[in-house]
Amino acid sequence: MNEAHLTFLASPAWAEQLKREVLPWMAAAGDLGDDVLEIGPGPGLSTDLLRQAVKHVTAVEVDPVLASALQVRLADSNVDVICGDGADTGLPSGQFSAATAFSVLHHVPSAYHQDRILSEVCRLLRPAGVFVGIDSRDLDTIRAGHQGDTFTPVDPDTFPERLRRLGFGDTSIDTTEYHFRFIARKL
Ligand SMILES: C[S@@+](CC[C@H](N)C(=O)[O-])C[C@H]1O[C@@H](n2cnc3c(N)ncnc32)[C@H](O)[C@@H]1O
Repeated sequence: MNEAHLTFLASPAWAEQLKREVLPWMAAAGDLGDDVLEIGPGPGLSTDLLRQAVKHVTAVEVDPVLASALQVRLADSNVDVICGDGADTGLPSGQFSAATAFSVLHHVPSAYHQDRILSEVCRLLRPAGVFVGIDSRDLDTIRAGHQGDTFTPVDPDTFPERLRRLGFGDTSIDTTEYHFRFIARKL
């Protein structure tokens, strides 16, 4: 991520935005159960919301610097932080009651890699496990904020069909000014 983006993701303004946009969407997904997988925690402000709501979180972060900073900050908490690719976690199938990906998919280099993450999330969920997330819309202002950074926007119109091909159903999509939010269930 570029430096400005990283600073924003660790700021009180982002924490507020997460409370406004992500918290109600998490609530709309219903009971997330006891063991939740988070793909792409970054500096961990989304992890902070999650860990207050559920018993245990496993956060998988591909950036080694961000992963080790979060490991230190959340040592002795209800969060295990793993440094790795969400497309290939090595975790056991069917471990998790729910999974999340908050503002992660557009930071993945290709649609193919995004699909590998979605497939891996499906493998790791228990039957009927819920997958909840938010991602950026493809807007000029958002592209401008990703200069020098990866930006692979997801089309919310085709996302339910992509999820269906990869093993999810019962998908809800909600579009806001800058984001779209999704809830899906492992079939
Ligand atoms: C925009 S940040 C979002 C951070 C956090 N979820 C939040 O909402 O504050 C996206 C994060 O996803 C991570 N990421 C990107 N690709 C990933 C992958 N393949 N596996 C795990 N994490 C990934 C990035 O390193 C970055 O920390």
